[in-house]
Amino acid sequence: MTNLADYVFHNVPAQLSPLEEFLDPFTRAELGEIAPGTGGHYLDLGAGGGSVTRMLSELAGETGRVEAIDQDTHMVPQGPNIGIHTQDLSSGEPLAAEGPFDLIHGRLLTHHLENRVEFVHRLAGSLKPGGWLLLGEFVRSTPRVVSAPSEEHAAVFTRVLDGLYDVMTARHTHGGWGHEVHRTMLDAGLSSVRTRWHFESWTGGDYGCRLYENNVSQKRDAMIEAGFDASDIDLFLKDLMHNKAMVVRSHEFVSIRGRRV
Ligand SMILES: C[S@@+](CC[C@H](N)C(=O)[O-])C[C@H]1O[C@@H](n2cnc3c(N)ncnc32)[C@H](O)[C@@H]1O
Repeated sequence: MTNLADYVFHNVPAQLSPLEEFLDPFTRAELGEIAPGTGGHYLDLGAGGGSVTRMLSELAGETGRVEAIDQDTHMVPQGPNIGIHTQDLSSGEPLAAEGPFDLIHGRLLTHHLENRVEFVHRLAGSLKPGGWLLLGEFVRSTPRVVSAPSEEHAAVFTRVLDGLYDVMTARHTHGGWGHEVHRTMLDAGLSSVRTRWHFESWTGGDYGCRLYENNVSQKRDAMIEAGFDASDIDLFLKDLMHNKAMVVRSHEFVSIRGRRV
């Protein structure tokens, strides 16, 4: 069971801001296609820094409402149409916010939950007829270097990113789960299920490399405990992720939507 002490990352702006910079334009476009707009009843699960909660609040307007649930709600914005609920979603307890919902969103949450399959089925049952479930996950992929100052720089990047993914996988995050969400939504009886992939290049010093830097710095001790080379990690943190000659592929994000009939 995941809980706050056990969660693989801490909710800090250094992690959540670059994450939002990477994913918000993509999520905004997805929501633009499926959200009913003003007056809708929305749920944002694992709301984190709250950027999607804010988007849903704007869509809902004065006559609608968004409920945000996270085990750590200290960064979720307040607002007249926003309800904030602190809950460990791996507990199996009923959702702290009452449905049914026009749209349920959860980005980078369900891979943390051991009960993820049952959870998706439960979410499908919490939608209004015609309501949408939109889930997004990172999936583990082979680290890719687009351009690097030397072969050694490229090799260090690859080793460290693989090490990060290994540590995250060991801490019950599930690197392949994103590929299973589409089928799980079909099994849960949702229709119009569709997956989109999103990745891009990140250059040393930009927001994406700041995200990689923050992910690895949060897991530095765990990686060293697991046997990774501290000098590789420190080169990655202090040089590679700030080096403008370093261009790498981003985390791979999958976005999956399904609709209740
Ligand atoms: C990587 S952050 C993503 C935040 C936000 N959804 C976004 O994409 O910007 C993952 C979020 O899931 C929350 N989380 C992880 N495990 C959880 C659990 N068991 N119950 C509730 N929230 C959880 C974390 O607190 C964190 O806010």
